[in-house]
Amino acid sequence: MIQIKDLVVTYVSEGIQYTALEQINFELAPGETCAIIGPSGCGKSTLLKVLAGIIKTYDGSVEMNGQAVMPHKQKIGFIPQNYGLLPWKNVCDNILLGIKIKNQKAADVKESLNLLLQQLGLIGLENRYPGELSGGQQQRVALARSFLLKPDLLLMDEPFSALDAMTREEIQDVYLASWKKHPISTILVTHHVEEAVYLGQKILILTGCPGVVSQVIDNPLFGAEGVRSQQEFFELCLALRKMIKEDWRK
Ligand SMILES: Nc1ncnc2c1ncn2[C@@H]1O[C@H](COP(=O)(O)OP(=O)(O)O)[C@@H](O)[C@H]1O
Ligand SMILES: [Mg+2]
Repeated sequence: MIQIKDLVVTYVSEGIQYTALEQINFELAPGETCAIIGPSGCGKSTLLKVLAGIIKTYDGSVEMNGQAVMPHKQKIGFIPQNYGLLPWKNVCDNILLGIKIKNQKAADVKESLNLLLQQLGLIGLENRYPGELSGGQQQRVALARSFLLKPDLLLMDEPFSALDAMTREEIQDVYLASWKKHPISTILVTHHVEEAVYLGQKILILTGCPGVVSQVIDNPLFGAEGVRSQQEFFELCLALRKMIKEDWRK
């Protein structure tokens, strides 16, 4: 269970203090997925960084199973917006990084690693370095790292943004199939309404500057078979888009 209570995050820039997130309250049940959607600069990445334990100074409380977030104790998979790959490590070593930090042996995950390389289209790229990969390929390496880790909490910041439309759908399906087998609590940030409706059991709409929660929607279509081509899917996306436009205009 993730519990965020009265979270306020302020940054100081050039000696001036300003608020990035204002009074955020939110809960996520174990194994639940949540898509966060909101305009640029409303604090989406800030919220993920707080949950990842990267931002440590804030007001309010952020707890995972009743304990403060401690990345060393809990298994948190975080895909930052810039993918977070180490430039001096090749694809394989970058993917295995999370496993090694958690003191698991690479030999124990060999089968899962091979499957992920295949599913994410990374076969043949294992020995390349991040600088030798396209943005989309780097993003797939970052996804492989987090999926392999099977974390207790998966945080993904615009994880499919560098992928073309077809690959994006394929990889969303890889994620969803793996979630159905092993439901990991997941929070992902996206700019795509379709992605939010496809992958979010809950959809959290953030708005404003500082960011506040404007709505939390329980998504009745999450996980339904073949939902992308169903009328209800298009209708919900349309309704959500309208809602978001009205919210952001306020
Ligand atoms: N390290 C930082 N120092 C100062 N201001 C920051 C820092 N990181 C982000 N900000 C500011 O905080 C606000 C929220 O940023 P961010 O969480 O990255 O938004 P989003 O991911 O929704 O686009 C923005 O106004 C941004 O400029
Ligand atoms: Mg961001």
